[in-house]
Amino acid sequence: MALNILAVSSEVYPLAKTGGLGDAVSGLAAALSSGAARITVLLPAYQGVTRHVDRMRRIATLTGLPGGDAELWSAHCPELDLPVLLLKNDALYERSGLYQKPDGAEYEDNAIRFAALSQAAARICEGILGLQRPHVVHAHDWHAALVPIYLRQRHVEDVKSVLTLHNIAFQGIFPMSLASQLGIEEAYCSSDGLEYWGQLNFLKGGIRYADLITVVSSNYAREILTPRFGCGLEQLLAQRRADLISIPNGIDTVLWNPQADEFLSGEGFSVECLEKKRRYKAALQKSFGLDVMPGSTLMAMGSRLTTQKMADVAMAAIPRALDAHADLQVCVMGQGEKDLEQGLLQVAERYPGRCSVHVGFDEPQAHLLHAGADVLLHGSRFEPFGLTPLYAMRYGSVPIGSRVGGMADTIIDPGSGASGAAMRGANGILFDGERAEDMLGAIHRVMALRRTPDLWRAVQVNGMKTDYSWERSAPAYLSAYQALRPDVMLGRIPERRNAMAGARGWKPVLPASLRAAPVAGPSTGAVMGRAKRKGLEVGSAISAREPSAA
Ligand code: ADP
Ligand code: GLC
Repeated sequence: MALNILAVSSEVYPLAKTGGLGDAVSGLAAALSSGAARITVLLPAYQGVTRHVDRMRRIATLTGLPGGDAELWSAHCPELDLPVLLLKNDALYERSGLYQKPDGAEYEDNAIRFAALSQAAARICEGILGLQRPHVVHAHDWHAALVPIYLRQRHVEDVKSVLTLHNIAFQGIFPMSLASQLGIEEAYCSSDGLEYWGQLNFLKGGIRYADLITVVSSNYAREILTPRFGCGLEQLLAQRRADLISIPNGIDTVLWNPQADEFLSGEGFSVECLEKKRRYKAALQKSFGLDVMPGSTLMAMGSRLTTQKMADVAMAAIPRALDAHADLQVCVMGQGEKDLEQGLLQVAERYPGRCSVHVGFDEPQAHLLHAGADVLLHGSRFEPFGLTPLYAMRYGSVPIGSRVGGMADTIIDPGSGASGAAMRGANGILFDGERAEDMLGAIHRVMALRRTPDLWRAVQVNGMKTDYSWERSAPAYLSAYQALRPDVMLGRIPERRNAMAGARGWKPVLPASLRAAPVAGPSTGAVMGRAKRKGLEVGSAISAREPSAA
């Protein structure tokens, strides 16, 4: 009997995605499945989701969920080769957006929509005819954070819960008056439960009651224990530190493979034939309507256009960078806050042929962005992990990132004063601060680096060669699951993804074991006693280098 895991998420690429959450959930599930564990992902049957599944089978009607009865369907996602469970209630989920209306306003019933998802998960844990009960339920972010509470309310004790924090800036805060409609018992609505300044806070409830909490990078795990990054939950997180571990995300190296990228035409490129990247640069310039200048430095930005992602700062820094460097070109793809979209479009108007902005998002274009760009600009006020810079690195595009969250773990930069020899070990550029000057300083550094071709090549190659695959991180999740359910046998570490990647000519390194890094407090450096007692391997950092203290 392999470990049976139920992952519960509002996003799973390619079925539903608005950002990195969808990528992370599918990448992890694909890396864990086959052999070591059996992963099934539960998500809402949003509009269009069924396009990505086959073998659909109705399992049950779940009566009395928040928002009314819902159907549970089992299916298979061929793109991920994974079993999925779809929660179908068209009144709740058959809409054009995942969370928002076309005008950007949140759906008024999001509390009900995602409480229903969590309650469905708890019912599955309790047992549904025709479905195997999971040994562990793995909830992702606030949308699934009520799972541990519903498990308690239903007295399901043997199924252990893991809550992964991808971004604690989003907590799912709703009026307390909804509690009974959501089926949350009064006992859980106190300040010791999910009450937060008189309201219901889904994420707080999850953090309070999950058996284990994981955070997607070591640095973010430390940061969220501080008032600056804790978003009001730092004290609760500190209380639960014994059950808090960090496991860094990985990237899907089959999907994001410059040698065989299904979204790109042509023969691809690798470290050995990097000159072939030029072809993608020209394609990117053309697709954005930029002048085709092979000798330029093409800097791309591809992210949600929000203040989290410093789109406001980029809006001020980009024109100054374009004025300072005649050989710089900029392309931006993303969508988000309307005023930021508009502001960036106006910048592009001022620099025809040199700056172009596409408001919107599409997956093939995101791949071309990394394949064709020389540089990725990825400022962030906080960044729990940051998958985008890793995609960029894999395609030989050098990232400029803020020294926050996961980027401080994954981007290696000896600093602005570093010698050429030290820079040979770098894979990107980091900057501190949130002002246009701070971002501009980093752009100047990258432009200087471009003028030393052998150094530039070294930095590019470092990024391309670093292994940030899920195969590196997935074993840490397996040992966490196993520690929660030592009674269940673990299968072999999965090799399917490696076999697939190998068949396409690229062989990732698969370490025999990987340790989950404990979260040291910002001041105390305490080691997680309880996690250790539970059998989690602690004491060894996963990151490429020791991250800076928060
Ligand atoms: P975050 O999850 O905070 O947005 P990540 O860098 O971890 O940051 O992941 C971003 C992912 O979302 C990437 O796969 C990126 O290509 C994608 N993405 C960026 N902007 C959008 C958007 N507007 N809509 C959908 N996906 C997007
Ligand atoms: C969130 C974070 C991002 C992270 C992603 C996947 O969206 O903002 O930093 O990479 O989740 O964990």
